[in-house]
Amino acid sequence: MQSRWGSLRAKVFPDHWSLLFGQIAFYSFVVLVLSGVVLTLQYEPSTAPVVYDGPYGPLRGTEMSRALDSTLAITFETRGGLLVRQIHHWATLIMVAAITLHLLRLFFSGSYRRPRRLNWLVVFSLLIVTLGAALTGTSLPDDMASGTSLAVLDGVLQATPVIGSALSYLLFGGEFPGNVLTWFYPLHIVVLPLLIVALFVAVAVLALKHSPKRAKRKSPVAAVKSAGLFCFVAGVSVLMAATATINPVWLYGPADPADTSAGVGPAWYLAFLDGSLRLAPGWEVVWWGKTISLAVLLPVAACTLFLVIVAVYPFLEERLIGVPKDQSERPRDNPTRTGIGVAGITFYGVLWAAAGADTMALQFHLSVNTLLRVFQVLLIVGPPAALWITRRICLGLRQQDKDVAEHGIETGRIVRLPSGGYVEDHRPSTRQLTAR
Ligand code: HEM
Repeated sequence: MQSRWGSLRAKVFPDHWSLLFGQIAFYSFVVLVLSGVVLTLQYEPSTAPVVYDGPYGPLRGTEMSRALDSTLAITFETRGGLLVRQIHHWATLIMVAAITLHLLRLFFSGSYRRPRRLNWLVVFSLLIVTLGAALTGTSLPDDMASGTSLAVLDGVLQATPVIGSALSYLLFGGEFPGNVLTWFYPLHIVVLPLLIVALFVAVAVLALKHSPKRAKRKSPVAAVKSAGLFCFVAGVSVLMAATATINPVWLYGPADPADTSAGVGPAWYLAFLDGSLRLAPGWEVVWWGKTISLAVLLPVAACTLFLVIVAVYPFLEERLIGVPKDQSERPRDNPTRTGIGVAGITFYGVLWAAAGADTMALQFHLSVNTLLRVFQVLLIVGPPAALWITRRICLGLRQQDKDVAEHGIETGRIVRLPSGGYVEDHRPSTRQLTAR
């Protein structure tokens, strides 16, 4: 029998909750466009210096760019300006989280396989383009936090052998910090959003192509439900923006390439890149008379390889394991794939946690060097251990399913046999065995 909570949940969210992440991502994008248009009315993408003369006392008299000056004006001088900025930022976080969860659902249910391999690639590209939009967006206020992340980006580019300096010159439109805002701005408000729209259209077209005929007939009820979800996503963004401060640029002050403030780190979705830089050993090699630092090259290569493997996983799996039957599976039905997924999450998670090593060391009175050493070991040992443990758990669950299918479900009712022995009564199970 369905529990009370189960039937209430089915009424409020009639579709399985895990199927809603794609829609949540789309609706947070709509919120981003709406709030972004409002921000463009006042924001000025200029690095021309001005002296701050606004109502925020601690910064009065400080030299800063027009970009930060206009961001502070939106924050302190425009009614509802801070709310709109925070809605824009919170919606970014919701969108990145929703696309990531959508990808995880596709992975663990095996829904990336033929004929849906292209869909996987499109959703993955959507995540990367959204990260690009988030990165260019957080650079726009030109505050200390955005300046620091751009300085790290410049450092990484400069450490790339042969083409590093040229790449940095190209990105920053000259020597760092260059005039990055002038071309990040159109990229942020036009190019990347248009690309995101194109990718959403591609996802919808592919979904329509692969869904059964029955599901294609959308009823007006589905449209109302979908509109309700939009209101829910917009409502949560506004609630978060109204109650929780995010990106308080007035506390960070203006960007300065020669300066950085403690405790300023990258946004959570880019933290794994920062973590990888922290965990890399400071090795150096000399090639053709040139000293090359592996401290940057190694983590950049590892993260790139990780992302490439995620992108091409459906093709890789098909090549290594063969063409699977197209049917959605529960994670336990494919223990190896589920194990690989959890190993990937562990790899990402360790890099992510390592980005906060200094804060953890400070809070728990630990040595930051010891912590980084522990994370280095975890990065190597963690993923294979996670793969093994997850496989064992899946195999155990499959065995349990098999027992239930063969012997039925335990009822807890003990009956006495004519021979005098006692056995537990089992009720027949209607569950199908899908395990391969
Ligand atoms: C997926 C799409 C988008 C993402 C992920 C995104 C993300 C961001 C983020 C994280 C910021 C920094 C906010 C802050 O100051 O705390 C930002 C700033 C900004 N965004 Fe977007 N944005 C997107 C689309 C748009 C669009 C479509 C527009 C305009 C039509 C826009 C206009 C702006 C403007 C003007 C700013 C600077 C103002 C400010 O920082 O207060 N954004 N964006």
